[in-house]
Amino acid sequence: MSLSSRALLALAAFSSLSLAKEVGYFESSSCADAKGFETCYENVDTNYANCVNNNCAGGSQSCYNSCGGSTSCMNQKCPGLGIDCINACECERSALQIDCVGQSCWNEVYSCEYQSTVWDFLNICVNPNRDGLPYWPTPDDAPDSCSCNLGQIDQKEHLIVNQMTECSNNNTNLEGMTDTDEMVEYGQACLCCGYSAIISAIWDTCPGTKPSLLGADDWFAGALTPGHWEECGPYLEAYDCAGDLGYGRADAGGISNFYLPSSMPTNGTKTMSNVDGVVSTPVSGDTFTWTFGSSVLHAVTASSADATVTGTGTKATSGGSDATATSTATGTVETDAKPGMGSSLIVPSWVIAGSVGALLLSTL
Ligand SMILES: *[C@@H]1O[C@H](CO)[C@@H](O)[C@H](O)[C@H]1NC(C)=O
Ligand SMILES: *[C@@H]1O[C@H](CO)[C@@H](O)[C@H](O)[C@H]1NC(C)=O
Repeated sequence: MSLSSRALLALAAFSSLSLAKEVGYFESSSCADAKGFETCYENVDTNYANCVNNNCAGGSQSCYNSCGGSTSCMNQKCPGLGIDCINACECERSALQIDCVGQSCWNEVYSCEYQSTVWDFLNICVNPNRDGLPYWPTPDDAPDSCSCNLGQIDQKEHLIVNQMTECSNNNTNLEGMTDTDEMVEYGQACLCCGYSAIISAIWDTCPGTKPSLLGADDWFAGALTPGHWEECGPYLEAYDCAGDLGYGRADAGGISNFYLPSSMPTNGTKTMSNVDGVVSTPVSGDTFTWTFGSSVLHAVTASSADATVTGTGTKATSGGSDATATSTATGTVETDAKPGMGSSLIVPSWVIAGSVGALLLSTL
């Protein structure tokens, strides 16, 4: 190859890079239908603006515009809007973005970019229906999948948080206890095992990845540190987290490795990236549905790889409600309950308060 043709190639590569357009977490040019994907996201943004302006009291186009659609800005500068209402609109936006991927970027449904999109959905929506989500978690050995399976981490964390309540209320264990101190100590052990299980879910699922990219800092700031994780050592040594306290059960996260504060696993150092293979046809066929909330069905039609048609968002099917109607968002979403959790997953406030003693006593 002559120097000049190589230079030309480099130039071509450079110019296509400079044309690359970031849409959400994606590089739209990598999508099966780049134009459709861009249009779809634009429509979703318009829908979001309408949702905020039409539903959130005190909303107005000028307020929305002056904030460029930023939630925190709108919450500060347009106090009439109400953060719960904005969150509801964001939740819907997030759901519609998932549709956009299924529609126009179906070749990336196992990618890190898609995982981040779903992770946002799970963070912003209250009580999201995990089972209804498409391509979530990413199956093992999926082509072109992310080096860290965020869906698996989320699933374990969700089961572990549930088990923290189950454990505290486990009558089999509580029955034999006679004094309050013993029960409070047992309750603290339930929490400590839960914290340790969360660490295991993050560090052991993706040992090579930087834990700060996997929500670890938020878990520490929002739950583990206020819950006195550093003092958990003696509890973790005295109690059988996997067996007696139940965290080893598959439906409780299936955790077998319980770390102590004094023996934390080594931090991974890598960022996430997509590895191995190509998704060359829509994984779920040309059309699929998924369930948002408890009843809103989203129907998604994959555009063909050489599609020239632009995306038009999604249509809701049976089940009555229209997925693009702003009213569904406000109806589906409840009060925000994740103080200080930043970009991490929703942690029930009782976990954060570390108030298991009160929880226990209320069951007596
Ligand atoms: C490991 O990662 C956690 C979570 O991001 C962080 O708090 C901790 O300081 C890190 N430990 C080391 C030794 O870097
Ligand atoms: C309750 O405790 C028993 C052992 O005492 C344990 O086997 C079981 O898994 C626990 N149940 C739950 C729901 O945690």
